Amino acid sequence: MRGLMDKIKKIMVYDADNEFYAKIFPDSVTKKDLLRIRTMTHSDLDSVLLIEHQNYEFPWEEDIFVDCFKAGYECLVCEYDNNILGYCLLSMAVGEAHILNISVHQKEQSQGIGRRMLEHLIDTVRGKAETIFLEVRPSNVGAIALYEKMGFNEIGIRKGYYPAQNGREDAIMLALEIFN
Ligand SMILES: CC(C)(COP(=O)(O)OP(=O)(O)OC[C@H]1O[C@@H](n2cnc3c(N)ncnc32)[C@H](O)[C@@H]1OP(=O)(O)O)[C@@H](O)C(=O)NCCC(=O)NCCS
Repeated sequence: MRGLMDKIKKIMVYDADNEFYAKIFPDSVTKKDLLRIRTMTHSDLDSVLLIEHQNYEFPWEEDIFVDCFKAGYECLVCEYDNNILGYCLLSMAVGEAHILNISVHQKEQSQGIGRRMLEHLIDTVRGKAETIFLEVRPSNVGAIALYEKMGFNEIGIRKGYYPAQNGREDAIMLALEIFN
């Protein structure tokens, strides 16, 4: 029955919106299909801050997110079934963009959500900037693995960039050239 449904789906509603489609054939749409990326608003901040505090030893507080809204940065959340699973923020200036934060709820990591958000940011930048920059702690092996898989290359080190328990930690600077 499921195989038949899949065939019907391909013939009849191959271009249908995933959410609409999920209502008709709930078993043949995955969680990944139903992830929605949208603009972050003030009312998202409680959920965002919860994830931020879980994920970082030195988390951003609300005022930094609000400053990002005010500055007109690209501030996005990734949600599933109206629950925020992750978020990302990007600033854009002439010719270059900067990923300021990307973070996924601890229980939702390793399911492709970080990659999905990064792909979305890269698409957003395409045609508007030639390079995306970001910084990452050398100790953050998971994030570095993701960035390298997405084609980012190391371009330098920022000495003492991050706060750390014993003083400061360097940042690895990564960059991705965007080919339009
Ligand atoms: C870094 C982070 C955003 C990655 O998000 P995620 O949803 O867990 O990552 P994904 O599931 O999309 O993984 C994407 C790829 O990166 C790789 N990757 C992710 N975490 C990894 C880890 N800990 N070790 C090795 N590889 C890893 C995966 O193998 C995956 O590759 P694939 O797509 O070929 O399978 C997430 O772990 C996170 O929120 N960390 C805490 C906050 C943080 O450190 N943010 C980055 C600040 S610079």
